[in-house]
Amino acid sequence: MNLKDLLKNRYSVRNYLSREVEAEKIDYILQCARLAPSACNFQPWFFYVITDERMKQGVQKSYDRIWFKEAPLYIVVCKCDQQSWKRKDGKDFGDVDAAIVAEHICLATAEKGLGTCWVCNFDSAILIESIGIPQEQEPIAVFPIGYIDEEKSKAPEKKRKSLQEITKFI
Ligand SMILES: Cc1cc2nc3c(=O)[nH]c(=O)nc-3n(C[C@H](O)[C@H](O)[C@H](O)COP(=O)(O)O)c2cc1C
Repeated sequence: MNLKDLLKNRYSVRNYLSREVEAEKIDYILQCARLAPSACNFQPWFFYVITDERMKQGVQKSYDRIWFKEAPLYIVVCKCDQQSWKRKDGKDFGDVDAAIVAEHICLATAEKGLGTCWVCNFDSAILIESIGIPQEQEPIAVFPIGYIDEEKSKAPEKKRKSLQEITKFI
């Protein structure tokens, strides 16, 4: 599948099967993540791959949604504050880098035929406490990952702004 088709077909999945995800697929997703570009190549990120039932319950407490609890695993993407590149006017590019690495996870997951959904609306304090994220890391996104429950899940219509609305050739 070419990139545009992958982008068109990917959607935020909120229905998962309990079926286990193979270790090779998790490894493929993480390998794709680590290839992400970053400002000055500082790679200010850290990933938690959560399959342990007790740890999963901790993650679930941070985002209390029925569909979220169905996922057999989670990847938590953290930004490492001390490692990110700061421009001389003070702008910190850590969030930008974390977003790029997160999108690699999202697309690699879709390429493998699995489903995921960016989740940012979690309770950060609960997540940090539940999985023991150290002070120098900040959780940026949580990805529930699993096989899609095709009976319940349907790709929504892609609603996007038109190119004319968001582009200017000058
Ligand atoms: C930065 C970011 C944060 C998001 N946070 C959440 C979230 O907390 N919960 C959720 O259900 N979806 C979340 N989403 C998914 C968006 O709602 C979704 O990507 C958007 O509506 C477009 O739909 P699509 O992904 O199916 O194309 C998030 C997406 C992004 C990029």
